[in-house]
Amino acid sequence: MNNSSKSKILVTTALPYANGPLHLGHIFENILADFWVRYLKMKKNEVYFYCADDTHGSAVMIEARKQGQIPEEFIKSISQSHQEDFRGFLIDHSFYFSTHSETNRQLCHFFYQKMQEKGTIERRHQSQLYCPHDQMFLPDRFVKGQCPNCGATEQYGDSCEACGATYSAFQLKNPACAICGTQPELQTTEQIFFKLNLFKELLQESLPQITDPATAKKMSEWFRQDLRDWDISRNGPYFGFPIPGESNKFFYVWLDAPMGYIATSLEHQKSLGQDGMEFWIKDSPHKVYHFIGKDITYFHTLFWPALLKVADLRLPNFVFVHGFVKVNGHRMSKSRGNFILAKQYLQHLPPEALRYYFASKASATSQDDIDFNLDDFVARANAELVGKFVNLFSRSIKLLEHFNYQLGELSTAMKSYIKQVSHNHITAAEKAYENQQYHLVIDQTRQLADEANRFFDERAPWKTIKNDEKATLETLTVTLNLAKNLALILKPIIPEISKKALSFFHTTQLDCWDDLHLLLEKTSLTPYQNLFTRITPDSVRPLIQPSDSTHQKVATPATKQGEPLTLIKIDDFAKIDLRVAEVVEAQAVEGSERLLSLKVFLGPLGYRHIFAGLKKSYPNPSELIGKKIAVVANLEPRKMKFGISEAMALAVGTDERLAVLEICEKRSKPGDPIK
Ligand code: MSP
Ligand code: ZN
Repeated sequence: MNNSSKSKILVTTALPYANGPLHLGHIFENILADFWVRYLKMKKNEVYFYCADDTHGSAVMIEARKQGQIPEEFIKSISQSHQEDFRGFLIDHSFYFSTHSETNRQLCHFFYQKMQEKGTIERRHQSQLYCPHDQMFLPDRFVKGQCPNCGATEQYGDSCEACGATYSAFQLKNPACAICGTQPELQTTEQIFFKLNLFKELLQESLPQITDPATAKKMSEWFRQDLRDWDISRNGPYFGFPIPGESNKFFYVWLDAPMGYIATSLEHQKSLGQDGMEFWIKDSPHKVYHFIGKDITYFHTLFWPALLKVADLRLPNFVFVHGFVKVNGHRMSKSRGNFILAKQYLQHLPPEALRYYFASKASATSQDDIDFNLDDFVARANAELVGKFVNLFSRSIKLLEHFNYQLGELSTAMKSYIKQVSHNHITAAEKAYENQQYHLVIDQTRQLADEANRFFDERAPWKTIKNDEKATLETLTVTLNLAKNLALILKPIIPEISKKALSFFHTTQLDCWDDLHLLLEKTSLTPYQNLFTRITPDSVRPLIQPSDSTHQKVATPATKQGEPLTLIKIDDFAKIDLRVAEVVEAQAVEGSERLLSLKVFLGPLGYRHIFAGLKKSYPNPSELIGKKIAVVANLEPRKMKFGISEAMALAVGTDERLAVLEICEKRSKPGDPIK
């Protein structure tokens, strides 16, 4: 086929944050897009499916710090983990990139230059909370305090989970840095704003056409007022791209994140000897589609299109917005114990069971949430995937052994029966794929499978095989033609199972949509091999953590003297961040009987100041210098009479005779975690 005149299709999914592992929500979005991409490829379109890690911002920086790594190192391992998970769910990205790349940095500069040229940015002063301990400006999510509206404690700096009020972080009562607990200060700095409202009319005109009605409606609410200017700069320390011409200022992560879509296509197309910019230029003959979750609509239907306009690039053809995955009826949450990581699922269950389940419940054009109900999931996999689809193959191929695994010929009547039965389902499934209504695809395959099973059961080939070979072979030939069609229609959804099923027909290659119209006669098959194994209810149980009450109680241990120990949970212990620290300064605190003042180095975590009750044990404090000792690195800083203590040094013995816990292991470096 000559593709040069046909338009190419570019599909993206939202770039997952590189601050942690993927969960079923991420997987859902990519599975949805993957269904569509695989379908379009079966229809012989030239499709590119891109994703990348979204690597910048405070959350990534802080998570890396917690792990004792530099961000560059940290995002590398996260990217590997993300790609592994996506592959595990058979998501067929054409290329997976990173926003932390030279290509993306150059793009970011290009956009920024256009923004400057077109007078769309403005510098303005702004007050923001600053943590003197961490020496950084705190993003809203990194400030905690009391809600100014209802007084609830432990609320984040953007909104209150108790009463729903939204506010600015500096309005919180008793604010504290969420990283270290220090009380932040209000500081004023100059920031760079993008004047989004300049694009209001343009966006109002074009955007509703490239979104679904629900999104268009939400947008019309936003358009009722002027669009707020957008702060695109962040003060250092910040993991991101430095803003050219500024000192210690970085582009906000959400500025360079969507540019990652373009950077990924440039990088990949270059490797194919093509210019990826072809997709993005105005009047491009090609198509661009974004898949996103409803929480990031504002970024994709206002900010991103406005940026594309500034850079004189094209708008996407459509932004598909989907709802959220829930587990057993509730939003996934760690405290509820229903937060399912991609890896956790893959450890226990086959990927295609989830793909099938998501397909049966989802459409990319509805923002309703999707419930991953574990009982329903097991039932569907067993009753439908195994009961209707797999069994059709196994029952008929096993009987075909009698005919040396070779299909017979079809009478005119049987040919038209196959066509007539398949026709409506094929057309309806095709339409459902085009509209991304996957639950309707599943409806069609369910009906087609029912029809094929009914045909098989009515003609009872296991009986006729004893006295009517001709009729038996006809039954099997018809059934396997219908089974072939089922496998083809389901191929984008359960690609490996379908591939295996279609490879039973080993003398005919079956992989594209047109093959639905092939009638197979005299084709040789291979013996049946298991396509899919039933799922037991036991295998889904590990996905949900047992609640505390189901933990077995064990007798409380006691010390030798008989006093009971205060028990803590393993989670409490896990909260303690023990690290190797190198003592770089040590001196007696004047005016204190007990205290030494230590400065320790924690590698990537930097320096900490510790007041430790070691004076009597170390009359000559300098002997501590250069020692690698064990410290609790995440102790909330405590204000003491002589200053702030920011960590705790561990020691053995009683108050008079303490010895610091020294790390003798040669390979250990400052900042290494102690397990
Ligand atoms: N990094 C940004 C996206 C930048 S795109 C230029 C981001 N990352 S994310 O990791 O938080 O989310 C990635 C995608 O997963 C988003 O589309 C988000 O809506 C989706 N989901 C996150 N949790 C989800 C569920 N529980 N269910 C379904 N999708 C959800 O946002
Ligand atoms: Zn802090």
